[in-house]
Amino acid sequence: MKEAVKIILEGGTVIFPTETVYGLGANALNAEAVKKIYALKKRPLSHPLIVHCSSKEEAFKLAKNIPKKAFDLADKFWPGPLTLLLEKNEIIPNVVTANKPSIALRVPSHKIALEFLKLAGVPIAAPSANEFSTLSPTHTKHLNLSADYILEGEASEVGVESTIVSFLEGTPRILRPGGVSREQIEEVIGKVEVATDKSAPITSGMLKHHYAPKTKLILYEDRLKEKNLDGFCILKVLGSQKNSLNLPEKVLSQKNSYSEAAANLFETLHQIDKEQWKGVIVFLAEEKDLGSAINDRLRKAAASFIQ
Ligand code: TXA
Ligand code: MG
Repeated sequence: MKEAVKIILEGGTVIFPTETVYGLGANALNAEAVKKIYALKKRPLSHPLIVHCSSKEEAFKLAKNIPKKAFDLADKFWPGPLTLLLEKNEIIPNVVTANKPSIALRVPSHKIALEFLKLAGVPIAAPSANEFSTLSPTHTKHLNLSADYILEGEASEVGVESTIVSFLEGTPRILRPGGVSREQIEEVIGKVEVATDKSAPITSGMLKHHYAPKTKLILYEDRLKEKNLDGFCILKVLGSQKNSLNLPEKVLSQKNSYSEAAANLFETLHQIDKEQWKGVIVFLAEEKDLGSAINDRLRKAAASFIQ
């Protein structure tokens, strides 16, 4: 940990565990350090990064004109898998936010991540620690890029990225479904809007092509486009989902828990990539609870195979 903190303060990069996915971090106050993240990830400079902080107080120092509902969500879900998109103040260099006047802020709950942030004493910009457009890592064994240091942890408990809620327009809007469900958010602040695929992509997670596995992934509703399903397997979110195809089956949660399914999502996709399947037919979940975040990732994974 000491070594990781030293590297961050010297302008290096560190991969660290969070409860959602592993992050690739650099000191958010150091523009040169942050540029290394984009290079390592092969991510276009036009895609801004989430800034991670050790506490609400530290996070809100980086924003201005913060609406009450944003405080309410932070009180309820921080530390945790929620990112708030707010007006940025002048402290954070423009390379972090891709020259946008907004900033995405999150206080993670993972013990190692929090300790790292506290000891570093600076905000840490961190995207998921995967090459741009590929599957996110929920374990160090999934990593497809390197950094100056890797802080080892266990598998990420939540398993899908944070929910991004934007306060940049009138009504709060979910830009990316994630580890905190819409229902949980609406319990605290009332009705929110949800960005659809048709909305202009504000976040890269909103791009249609994202989270792409190597194995061809096809949604069940599109299965007829594939002439021959020999060598394919099935991926179901919940054990209770009906499957009429006679193919080997993988299930994200046998006991029908969306949280368990989310935790297993990227691990299972990484595993499928290591096996010799010609493709995988996906049965989506219901649009509720963490089902929305799981479906979002699976739809985008499938979209990368549509020409
Ligand atoms: O759970 C998570 O959020 C993980 C862990 C590491 O914290 N991080 C993560 O970062 O998923 P990344 O970079 O893979 O996704 C961040 C998303 C991107 O879609 C990015 O475009 C969006 O947040 N974003 C960040 N700052 C933004 C801003 N100022 N305006 C709009 N979108 C923003
Ligand atoms: Mg990502």
